[in-house]
Amino acid sequence: MSTPHVAPVRPTALVTGASSGIGLAVARLLVAHGHRVVGTSRDPDRIADADRVAGVEYRALDLDDLAGVTALGADLARDGVEVDVLVNNAGESQCGALEELPLPEVERLFRVNVLGPVHLTQLLVPGMRARGRGRVVMVGSMLASFPLAYRSSYVASKAAIKGFAEAARFELAPHGVWLTTVEPGSVATGISGRRTIHSPDGSPYAAGLRQMLGRLDAAERDGVSAERVARTVLRAVQADAPVPTYAVGSGAPAVFALRRALPAAVVERVVARRFGLGPRGVRA
Ligand SMILES: NC(=O)c1ccc[n+]([C@@H]2O[C@H](COP(=O)([O-])OP(=O)(O)OC[C@H]3O[C@@H](n4cnc5c(N)ncnc54)[C@H](OP(=O)(O)O)[C@@H]3O)[C@@H](O)[C@H]2O)c1
Repeated sequence: MSTPHVAPVRPTALVTGASSGIGLAVARLLVAHGHRVVGTSRDPDRIADADRVAGVEYRALDLDDLAGVTALGADLARDGVEVDVLVNNAGESQCGALEELPLPEVERLFRVNVLGPVHLTQLLVPGMRARGRGRVVMVGSMLASFPLAYRSSYVASKAAIKGFAEAARFELAPHGVWLTTVEPGSVATGISGRRTIHSPDGSPYAAGLRQMLGRLDAAERDGVSAERVARTVLRAVQADAPVPTYAVGSGAPAVFALRRALPAAVVERVVARRFGLGPRGVRA
């Protein structure tokens, strides 16, 4: 007879991108709820004192470097850190017209937003499975459900990470390991100032991109707090059987209900109008 698994008294969580915004709020909340938290940053030495959470153990991780992801997995194993909860939060916000996105930049975005998190998940899931319990939360984006012009690479990266999580759920659920995606709408984290924007001189898309960015930045400034998103992540972590997707901010869950009720072509136009765009281009 197999021994029933006993949940650890103090579960260990790994939160990527714990140096700012949503990741910082998640790390803080998980510490407050009794987790041992390992938080990552590309350069933990550069995290400002005000953004350091007491109790969080910081480790270096650049998701653009897949060998570095492998090395982090090996370091955690060597140090006997058994991760029960993985929050794949770190990510980059890229903008630009599809035609003008440099392919190496799209590749880099997919390493940071998709392949790095997928690889980290592959490294940590075997331990969770062996222990009979685990949670993996992908921090996606509502834009994966409501695609937006000039954000094609970012939308595709967030749809991809959600796809990995949704498809693999019933591979892992029988082993007590649940994957889920938290899709935030606009969140006031200052991410607007850290976006990568690709807009070459003389671009025929410049006006539309500018219009979209103005609305996007305003929505982020007026967005929900990172703490609110962190509470949603905690709900997903604490659920016995997390649902496939948790949405938070930008009018969720009402806008998801409308999305189910309305024809796709109507939803597409509503989203475009919200950002001052439409099928004929920029709207006044
Ligand atoms: N803010 C929003 O409106 C919003 C909406 C929907 C979804 N999201 C998603 O939520 C997540 C967090 O966003 P946020 O708003 O909190 O952004 P943020 O404040 O800019 O935080 C991003 C975090 O990711 C880390 N990071 C960036 N590039 C990295 C890389 N190459 N390798 C490893 N870590 C990297 C950063 O850490 P270091 O710089 O210290 O390395 C930072 O901690 C992202 O996945 C984002 O796409 C945000």
